Amino acid sequence: MSERSLGGLQTAPVGFGAMVLSPGMYGRTDDDRGVAALHAALDAGATMIDTADGYGADGHNEALVGRAGAGGRDEVVIATKFGFRIPEGAEAHSFPVGYSFGELAVNAEPKYVRGYAEQSLRNLGTDVIDLYYPHFPDPQVPFEDTVGAVADLVAAGLVRHLGLSNVTAGQLRAAHAVHPVAAVQTQWSMWQPVDPELLAAARELGVGLVAWSPLGGGFLTGTVQQLGEDDFRRHIPRFDGANLQTNNDRYAPLRGIAADLGLTPGQLALAWLLHQDEHVVPIPGSRTPAHIAENTAAAGVTLDAAVLHRIDEALALFAPAGRGALLAEADG
Ligand SMILES: NC(=O)c1ccc[n+]([C@@H]2O[C@H](COP(=O)([O-])OP(=O)(O)OC[C@H]3O[C@@H](n4cnc5c(N)ncnc54)[C@H](OP(=O)(O)O)[C@@H]3O)[C@@H](O)[C@H]2O)c1
Repeated sequence: MSERSLGGLQTAPVGFGAMVLSPGMYGRTDDDRGVAALHAALDAGATMIDTADGYGADGHNEALVGRAGAGGRDEVVIATKFGFRIPEGAEAHSFPVGYSFGELAVNAEPKYVRGYAEQSLRNLGTDVIDLYYPHFPDPQVPFEDTVGAVADLVAAGLVRHLGLSNVTAGQLRAAHAVHPVAAVQTQWSMWQPVDPELLAAARELGVGLVAWSPLGGGFLTGTVQQLGEDDFRRHIPRFDGANLQTNNDRYAPLRGIAADLGLTPGQLALAWLLHQDEHVVPIPGSRTPAHIAENTAAAGVTLDAAVLHRIDEALALFAPAGRGALLAEADG
């Protein structure tokens, strides 16, 4: 599969999500393993590396991306997000979410945005961020104001493209009227449908889609049987208690389709996403080079209409137990 365009930003069809490379996310890791994973992603052909100032403590995840040298490579798209690392003296604003902790603390006031970007540039060891997102719309700040602050960074040459993350269709339209949006990052996978209004608005405006947790946080690979005590996914009701076993049982028909096609379940999940829209780029995360190669190879999988129909029929019957959506208003 050739490159994809996200509102004019060119990237390989399958990107890489670096969040899992920071401690406290989805199992044990360390920095050497993280840098090796980033190199494996770039070697496998991923060109978009997705990180955030809020992954890990003190910009840990961005610094790993910097240590891997990703920011110094012309073909690499560095995408990062802001709003979680609240400066001393700034207010924490509550953003309600559907995971069991109930809310996140954010601050996307325009006066802090340049400082966020400058810190991210230092962490990443680069002089320009290719794609810069407010991680969440700040409920205490008119969204257009936050977006305007990113537009100022584009004008100043610190940022190349504006992205939005975890927004509604209305927020996308409002932002796009302030400054062209290259991509919207949204939770989208076989077990978490995209918001149809958001998809329609993105298509109408020529905005690309970056699918986060495209493997359903690992579930869709069929390999998640139990979670460690400190695994972040314990906060997601779908992974909690008996739900995980129930969901693995209910997911069996889709694992069966993958086996019939000679694919892994994760490859089927990524290939299915790539066939939903020509402007979608999934960003699977992994600490494991073999998994990374497997995921990136999904870009070369073609699913014909009959197979897509068979998958859609199986998905229509697949009703996961427990909420899976991060956004409080989205269906679980
Ligand atoms: N904007 C937002 O609010 C937001 C929220 C969440 C995530 N994101 C972004 O989306 C990216 C991806 O999301 P995610 O990490 O939540 O979930 P994901 O990519 O759906 O799943 C990652 C998990 O799947 C496992 N995995 C990956 N490939 C595998 C394979 N081939 N076989 C078996 N297991 C495999 C990984 O374990 P191993 O390490 O063992 O391979 C990891 O535990 C993040 O890195 C982040 O950049 C954004």
